[in-house]
Amino acid sequence: MNSWDELLSPYKQAVEELKVKLKGIREQYQKSSRHTPIEFVTGRVKPVSSILNKAARKKISFDCLEQDMQDLAGVRIVTQFVEDIETVVDLIKKRTDFEILEERDYILEQKPSGYRSYHLIICYPVQTIHGEKKIQVELQVRTLSMNFWATIEHSLRYKYSGEIPEEISSRLMRASEAAFKLDEEMSIIRDEVREAQRLLMA
Ligand code: GTP
Ligand code: MG
Repeated sequence: MNSWDELLSPYKQAVEELKVKLKGIREQYQKSSRHTPIEFVTGRVKPVSSILNKAARKKISFDCLEQDMQDLAGVRIVTQFVEDIETVVDLIKKRTDFEILEERDYILEQKPSGYRSYHLIICYPVQTIHGEKKIQVELQVRTLSMNFWATIEHSLRYKYSGEIPEEISSRLMRASEAAFKLDEEMSIIRDEVREAQRLLMA
């Protein structure tokens, strides 16, 4: 094992464990025939090339990597509706298998780019052959619509190597507003469908 593998292997384990646990929540909702607040879960360990790039950009030394790069392990929870995000965050807060270190609500307050998402940094204990190791994991909770926008914006940003021209970034900002309006409209439609069903049952 090289030193990167050694450093990142508990992160890989944490990502895999959290994916299983969060998918478990999804299955429990599905089995009980209730609307599941979790549509899908993805996770990744940051590729070494991205770690090196970010470390150079943020002037983080190798020794401080585990402390200062909070997204070495990242898990993303995607929901159908904006309201589901709160449900997911509440479920996460009630858990006893990890601790929450930080919370950032980029939904109430979107980032200047137009990015929306709810972020939690957790301290997750991984059991290794050398004993328990606590590591930081970044959880991102967002709707399908927020995910659609962020995924494309991220790949465009990559194409422009970080420097998106002003004209493009203001269009992306408008696209982000449109994505958020779509979220709001879908919630309204869902509420109307629910109300119609309720009246039918009555
Ligand atoms: P970095 O943004 O990764 O340098 O870390 P940070 O400490 O500033 O944390 P922040 O909460 O701002 O962002 C963490 C993660 O959120 C990023 O790694 C991205 O995955 C995501 N993110 C933040 N801002 C944007 C954005 O403007 N566009 C997209 N597509 N993703 C973003
Ligand atoms: Mg940032």
